[in-house]
Amino acid sequence: MNIKNIKSEFPIFKQKINGKPLVYLDSANSSQKPQTVINRLSNFYETEFSNVGRSVHSLAVKATNRFEDARDKVKDYLNAKEREEIIFTKGATESINLVASSYGERFIKEGDEILITELEHHSNYVPWHFLRQKKGAKIKFASVNENGEVEIDEIKKLINSKTKMIAITHLSNVTGAILPIKKVVDLAKEKNIPVLVDGTQGAPHLKIDMQELGCDFYAISCHKMYGPNGLGILYAKKKWLEKLPPYQGGGGMISEVLKDNITFASTPTKFEAGTMQTAEVVAFSEAIKFIEKLGIKNIQTHENEVMEYGIEKLKKNNSISIIGNPKERGSVICFSMKGIHPHDIATILDEDGVAIRAGHHCCQVLHDKLGIPATARASLGVYNSKDDIDKLSEAIDNCKKIFKV
Ligand code: ALA
Repeated sequence: MNIKNIKSEFPIFKQKINGKPLVYLDSANSSQKPQTVINRLSNFYETEFSNVGRSVHSLAVKATNRFEDARDKVKDYLNAKEREEIIFTKGATESINLVASSYGERFIKEGDEILITELEHHSNYVPWHFLRQKKGAKIKFASVNENGEVEIDEIKKLINSKTKMIAITHLSNVTGAILPIKKVVDLAKEKNIPVLVDGTQGAPHLKIDMQELGCDFYAISCHKMYGPNGLGILYAKKKWLEKLPPYQGGGGMISEVLKDNITFASTPTKFEAGTMQTAEVVAFSEAIKFIEKLGIKNIQTHENEVMEYGIEKLKKNNSISIIGNPKERGSVICFSMKGIHPHDIATILDEDGVAIRAGHHCCQVLHDKLGIPATARASLGVYNSKDDIDKLSEAIDNCKKIFKV
């Protein structure tokens, strides 16, 4: 892959940050956008914009067709069986809230158990906490091991007759561990337990094929996949969408609204209340085309090379401890440095144009377990190269000089 060419497709890299070329290592938080996505957003607003699914004028019909074309694109990319299984949401967070709320309302009762892991970021814990409060359900946490992985046996031993949902991340945004989703799904199927996969970090870096994975729900954050902000996807097997009650009420999601009765549209519209993100949905097709053009396997191979180079390089620095050592790892390098708070590291690196994230990365449960309140994190996108890792390493050395560690 020619990373220089790929990087030139992202206009953000034309500018300098604090007088230095931008080294963007915060893609787990949000990825940058290629020109094709930006162009599609702006030309849609300039020439094609209208609300969708309502009016019959030419613009509205065209916009609706584009919107539904994007649903087909997502369906094909995910290898979903049917286009009705693709719901547009405002983010992976909303996708998971939708399932927790609608599935919870219909299927969870007091004492039922939701099985998650200690790796989950807040979007795949807090929605289940609401259910714990509302219905008296229990949340069980599968333990993370010393390598930052969750082993299948940990999940196995927590499953019992009260388990009504398994909700797990595909790829940890802290340890980088890739979880054995297929094995979890096979295990859950034997017991008739639905599986929700938080694909926030998995989808931008791994091949995601719903027929291969076999999960019931898969949540995606489009802004981490080189796509527009404010957009997410919920893939859900049709058998669930037909059974679940709507999540939000409003225009578009109804069939008939009378004073004494309301009936709802069929899926997916039933779950898409109010005016949808039209331009964002349409422009997300371009993000998928960008990924397809490069090939997700090639993206993963390239990112793994850069990640391994980064891990080896940072390991040589004796003030740095790398968080996690999973066998299967993707795209993130979380670390701490003796004597320097992660927020200070991030602030000083920024002076050198190096953008990383510091904090608990929305994973307080995991950081509590690790016994540290915060870590620093470099996370990768396809535009990163080994050169970026060299710049990260130089900036860390500058940081050490300032703090005299
Ligand atoms: N935005 C989140 C991250 O940075 C969760 O990993």
